[in-house]
This record gives sequence, C-alpha cells and structure tokens, in this order.
Amino acid sequence: MLDTFTFHHIGYAVNDIVVTAEYYVKAGWQLSEVYHDNIQNSKIAFLTKSGFPLIELVAAVDESSPVVSTLKKSGVSPYHICYEVEDIETAIKDMKHQRYLPLFKPVPAVALDNRLICYLYNKNVGLIELLNKR
Ligand code: NI
Repeated sequence: MLDTFTFHHIGYAVNDIVVTAEYYVKAGWQLSEVYHDNIQNSKIAFLTKSGFPLIELVAAVDESSPVVSTLKKSGVSPYHICYEVEDIETAIKDMKHQRYLPLFKPVPAVALDNRLICYLYNKNVGLIELLNKR
C-alpha cells in the first residue's frame, strides 16, 4: 500500500445479493442496481449510507466465478479492500516491490464506470483491489 491511496470500498462475498442487502436496507442503506460483470464473471451491487464506508456485494454467476473460492473457504464475508489510485500501472509497479502479487492485468470494471481495476495479493495483508481514478 502507498500513502497516496484513498479508501474506496469494502468487497463482500455473498451467495445472494438481494438476501444480504435486505439486512442493510432495513438499517437504512441504499442498494444500487445489480451489475453483471462479464470480465469478472460476477454480479455486483453497492450499498451506500451517509457517513458509512461504501460496501460492494459480489456474488458468483457460476462455478467459474472468482468469488466462489472465497465463499467455499470463508462463507459470506468481507474479502477485499479497494483503494483508488491516480495511476494504476504505477501503483501496481510499486506494490510489486512490496511483494504484492497482481492476479491479472488491469481490466475495466462495468460496475465502476469501466474504470480500470486490478487485484493484488500479499500474504500478510490479504486481497487489495486498485481502482484507477479516471
Ligand atoms: Ni471491489
């Protein structure tokens, strides 16, 4: 991680977006539309509430969805933190020096205005998502 990163959202692996969202909506959160991200092969929605961090709900489309392994291992659970960065390529390069392993090359995220995202893993920090600012 870098001191220039800004917090964007907590990613939450869920079996069913509507079922999990119901608990939050009852507590005053707003659920966005549900996006189908064909690149991540996932269904994605956001929960927002003034004064709270943004929550992303990620559900599998089928057994090949990346979130399936998290759901099998940990059940419904928060599993990544996303940070916004000025320049994703530079950020990835810097994180590689800090022993983060990029899981794939940056790809556009349908649920986030097609801005580029990338996931990186470090065994001492866990899964981090980077989101390009523009
Ligand atoms: Ni995310």
